[in-house]
Amino acid sequence: MPEPVPRVPFIAANWKMNKTIADTREYVPALLGQLDVGHAAQVALCVPFTDLASAVELTGDSEVIVLAQNMHQEEAGAFTGEISARMLLELGVHGAVLGHSERRRDFGETDRALQEKVPAALAAGLTPVLCVGETEEEREAGETQRKLRHQVQEALLHVDEDRLADVVVAYEPIWAIGTGRVASPDQAQEAIAFIRALVGDRSKAAAAEVRVIYGGSVSSENAAEILAQPDVDGALVGGASLDAQEFAKIVAAAP
Ligand code: PGA
Repeated sequence: MPEPVPRVPFIAANWKMNKTIADTREYVPALLGQLDVGHAAQVALCVPFTDLASAVELTGDSEVIVLAQNMHQEEAGAFTGEISARMLLELGVHGAVLGHSERRRDFGETDRALQEKVPAALAAGLTPVLCVGETEEEREAGETQRKLRHQVQEALLHVDEDRLADVVVAYEPIWAIGTGRVASPDQAQEAIAFIRALVGDRSKAAAAEVRVIYGGSVSSENAAEILAQPDVDGALVGGASLDAQEFAKIVAAAP
């Protein structure tokens, strides 16, 4: 048996609907100036569609990659307001956040659409960051694992076994997003180990390689403790990523 490849931590900024091109021009050089040489992580900026081109240009040949926050599953067609994988690739984008809870809750993103989006992203050579997570009510009702199982199995249904490890899964408990109520390191570890086991039901090799990251009120104060958990392979950072210095501190906290 070959030795398993160590998983490179994945630390992603999710700007959500924040920052203009002018803001991007300030942020990216500031971030690049703050990142420690030789830090351990792969760093990603998930930015609004309008900022993608400038973010790609400004990150240049640095190791920081740029992701979109959504993508349509079809290659082209009558889908007003949507963006395809090819359009993202042409800009030099590396991937897309898919199934963020805000898109599920507010914009009708479904597991059925994600069944097509995740493989479409992979087929195009983009890295999908698939978001899953339970509501507070589901956690209190002891339904966390049922919800995670459903979301992970549905979204990965049409992903071939040999591509499973190319997906990044973000565990984002909805009660922790934007609330300041970060999951405890134990809660993050437990849910993420469970997600890894779900991938393992499809492929043991993929489970050892797939990166499963945590999102929800991550800050420079709490990042180190969460990122130190054995199954936590990184973070998806919303509010705290809007400040380049704060985000650079979170990157530096990756083990
Ligand atoms: P937050 O958002 O860090 O502001 O909680 C995380 C996310 O929604 O990805």
